[in-house]
Amino acid sequence: MLTKRQIVDFLEEKDEVVIEALFRQADQVRKKYVGDAVHLRGLIEFSNYCKRDCLYCGLRRSNENVVRYRMTIPEIFNTALEARNLGLQTVVLQSGEDPHFTIDDLCSLVRSIKTDIGFAVTLSIGERTYEDYKRLKDAGADRYLLRFETTDPVLFKKLKPDSVYEKRFRCLEWLAELGYQVGSGIMVGLPGQTMESIADDVLKFKEIDLDMVGLGPYISHPNTPLQGSENGTLDMVLRVTALTRIVTKNAHMPATTATGTIDAEGRQKALQCGANVLMPNSTPRKYREHYLIYLDKICIDEEPHKCRFCVESMVIGLGRTISSDAGHSLKSASC
Ligand code: SAM
Ligand code: SF4
Ligand code: FES
Repeated sequence: MLTKRQIVDFLEEKDEVVIEALFRQADQVRKKYVGDAVHLRGLIEFSNYCKRDCLYCGLRRSNENVVRYRMTIPEIFNTALEARNLGLQTVVLQSGEDPHFTIDDLCSLVRSIKTDIGFAVTLSIGERTYEDYKRLKDAGADRYLLRFETTDPVLFKKLKPDSVYEKRFRCLEWLAELGYQVGSGIMVGLPGQTMESIADDVLKFKEIDLDMVGLGPYISHPNTPLQGSENGTLDMVLRVTALTRIVTKNAHMPATTATGTIDAEGRQKALQCGANVLMPNSTPRKYREHYLIYLDKICIDEEPHKCRFCVESMVIGLGRTISSDAGHSLKSASC
């Protein structure tokens, strides 16, 4: 197990030979613990309304330049159906924190996707009550993604002024307790983030024994208070990816869209130093340009089938295979 000091040293390392060796080691750990198959999860961004005001995010409620949309429940269901027709086996339903959707609506959606389509369902809809999480689990939801964004409580408070640090972690505890496969993660390169706090983040992934860890660069958005701040770098995202793989061993780790946004080869590189999941965008094309959490997001002009086959060729190009199963957690407690 790496210590905090060792992780900081790798994050600050100047010698490329050492970093190349780190990436190789992460790739070997990935191969040993999660194999060569890459899991595909179709991402449906079903609403860009958000009641929160996170400083980094283009969907924050104070951004009046966003054209807001919300898909209807039948529309979301049909989009999931289309994802099945494209050979996917699981969807991630993501949105801003949109109070418009009642828990009854969401439960019936989850139930119909589970029973009529047979998909594994992942939710990424932010902070909710214990009761809501329980009802969604009872309706059949399998997994939940809720990034804690940073373990630094001061930075968290600054960047998420209307969220409570302890509540975010409490939500992650509730989700695990309720039997969800739990994913969390961070943005790398947040303004004010230190190498020490990233090292704490990596150790936190292990401590809370996550089933999934999502990492991507922070990318600035012009209509936010952080406009003009520097983006996270690919180099740093790859280092954190490699260190997370080495520390967590068998967590599922996506090569994220944000990583593909800062570098055309970003996702391929992430897959070569620890990542084992891709999330092709399955959102109908007409909505994509409005789900701009950051600037220059990729896949805005593509249809779902284009992204589906694009990621497949990416995987084949790396000599890897597409997983033939739903890609459930590899942690013993959830299996
Ligand atoms: N609203 C839910 C939440 O915040 O958990 C889910 C949707 S939110 C758009 C999903 C993730 O987008 C966040 O957890 C955050 O890490 C990421 N994100 C937001 N703004 C970003 C930015 N400017 N650059 C990179 N990632 C960003
Ligand atoms: Fe809303 Fe999530 Fe964006 Fe924060 S990160 S403003 S909660 S969509
Ligand atoms: Fe969307 Fe490549 S994944 S075009």
